[in-house]
Amino acid sequence: MLSVKALFTEYPNDQGQIVKAAQNVTFDVPEGKLFTLLGPSGCGKTTTLRSIAGLEKPKSGEITVAGRTVYSSAGNVFVQPNQRAFGMVFQSYAIWPHMNVFKNAAFPLEVGSKKYSKKDIEQRVMRVLAAVGLDHLADREATKLSGGQQQRLALARALVMEPKLLLLDEPLSNLDAKLRERMRFELKRMQRELGLTTIYVTHDQSEALALSHEIAVMREGQIIQIGSPRDIYERPNSKFVADFVGLTNFVEATVLAPENNEGGYRVESSLGQLSVVSLEALRPGEQVLISIRPEDVELCENRPDGTNVIHGTVDFKVFLGEYLDFQVKFGDRSLLARVHPSLKTPVGEGIYACLNPEKCIAIRDDVALKKAA
Ligand SMILES: Nc1ncnc2c1ncn2[C@@H]1O[C@H](COP(=O)(O)OP(=O)(O)O)[C@@H](O)[C@H]1O
Ligand SMILES: [Mg+2]
Repeated sequence: MLSVKALFTEYPNDQGQIVKAAQNVTFDVPEGKLFTLLGPSGCGKTTTLRSIAGLEKPKSGEITVAGRTVYSSAGNVFVQPNQRAFGMVFQSYAIWPHMNVFKNAAFPLEVGSKKYSKKDIEQRVMRVLAAVGLDHLADREATKLSGGQQQRLALARALVMEPKLLLLDEPLSNLDAKLRERMRFELKRMQRELGLTTIYVTHDQSEALALSHEIAVMREGQIIQIGSPRDIYERPNSKFVADFVGLTNFVEATVLAPENNEGGYRVESSLGQLSVVSLEALRPGEQVLISIRPEDVELCENRPDGTNVIHGTVDFKVFLGEYLDFQVKFGDRSLLARVHPSLKTPVGEGIYACLNPEKCIAIRDDVALKKAA
């Protein structure tokens, strides 16, 4: 449905230097899917989105939507933003304060180049207001809506033109934590129900994991990894991705030998010898980092069966309600373990950790940088 190929967008900065905001950005989004650009502030998410919208003129690349080329440097194509007919919601969405809810949602239809009859406008507006759950508030002044309702109104306004593509730039970031979580579910439900092909921009990893069919993790203008939320979380391809998407333990290690034909390796680490998995082929002697998520460090008081069993001492504990964080020392290094609160081992006691080899992910520290070179 949407295809972005080798997109480069640059800006001159105040010092006359060139900021490479989007570099060789390439991805495809199938019809009806929600695709997220995730990364820290300044990594080029907004630039990529604005390039798709036609609000920035890229240096090179190609963008096609539903078979129509809207930008191509090779073909010298640049379709004006208002001719692309995409729906957009930005971080700082503007609600027109002097208009009621209905008028706000109807605005794009009234000012657009296409003329709609009064009845047509009425039907379209009430349909999108119903979709975002605001139909019963159509006559209310927009300023008398709560934050979440204003957010939904901004969405309704983006949807009223029935866009082929919906572009959302951190649309929930102005909301407080509770509301943000609720809106996340509503947004997901609506996107799935209406089957809207959507590009979603956020720096919030939990938002990305919760909403997306696919995620592209960006860093310094480049996409570092593309995958399903589960892939990105369970099979990060670099230290950057493992670190940015959720909490993890990193353990330095040296590769000893392959262990099976499914990407298994034996490594020597600061925790002793471990069995691990790798996405890429590794050579004996290579230095790697092992990423182990806190919820994958299984703790038990009695020695468990299995591989990767190590013995340590409980260093400290933090009670977090639905789970407990244990810091466990193994020699001079420690691991964070996230466990069920039923585990009551006191601080200072010995404890076993069992590390499922499938959850011990070997990462070459230089993957991200290598791709950038
Ligand atoms: N209009 C602009 N002029 C100059 N530099 C810009 C402009 N917009 C963005 N940048 C720079 O481009 C880089 C990427 O910015 P942006 O796409 O806004 O990142 P993100 O949305 O991921 O926070 C940053 O270094 C930013 O400072
Ligand atoms: Mg941004």
